Amino acid sequence: MKLHSIDTHVHLLVSKKQNEPDWVEIKKILDMAYEAGLTAVCVTEHAESAGYRQLMKSLFEDNVYNGQLAEGGVILPSGLMLYPGAEVQLSNGTNVGVHAPLQTLMELNTTAGFYSLDELEDYLQKVGKTFALVAHHIYWEGKTFPDHDRLAEVVSAIEVPAKDSRNSDKYRSLAEKYALPNTGGSDAHTFIQIGACYTQVQQDGEHLSHEAFISSLREGSCMAQVSPAVERLVTTSKLYRKHQMA
Ligand code: FE2
Repeated sequence: MKLHSIDTHVHLLVSKKQNEPDWVEIKKILDMAYEAGLTAVCVTEHAESAGYRQLMKSLFEDNVYNGQLAEGGVILPSGLMLYPGAEVQLSNGTNVGVHAPLQTLMELNTTAGFYSLDELEDYLQKVGKTFALVAHHIYWEGKTFPDHDRLAEVVSAIEVPAKDSRNSDKYRSLAEKYALPNTGGSDAHTFIQIGACYTQVQQDGEHLSHEAFISSLREGSCMAQVSPAVERLVTTSKLYRKHQMA
């Protein structure tokens, strides 16, 4: 059995307004992910970002880093696996991670707030059923989903977010209440924060296919891990990002 360590919530664009991906900066993030011991990263870029489709097409169709297009993602020359994903802002402000095949993601409506939770689920059911949704930072102000019973029927997992690690017990308790697994996501926009929280999946094979990863979310065979350095990583990353955007 191999223990796969996957950061299941990663951004590669500096901001939602960025049209052109910064490939030098992105390489830094992906190199650091490998150095940090991660085996895979889910590229859950904001679907409403100006550069979303170009980013996904470049990574997963054009193979901009000359990796190996395989297993529903791309295996970079370092061995790090990338999975396609998206972070979708629902009509009530809640953010969900969408883990689904590239084609499904590319056809998502990219207007923020376009889908309710039910509508997003309907869309994903119609286009193929191979998907898993994850509730992202569900206790953040403005991002909550008060009907936890309904939320738990639709999502496969509850994220323990790096940026709210002090409250990780709340996210773990919510998952436990509904017999759902926790994922760990860094919500990194920089090379510093990558891997601050991550998800572990135990499964045979050098690489976990995207489909097998989605199944592990749906079946609950994954768990969240929080880096001991999480607070330092989040704080340092915030400073770096401020400098980057100035
Ligand atoms: Fe995010």
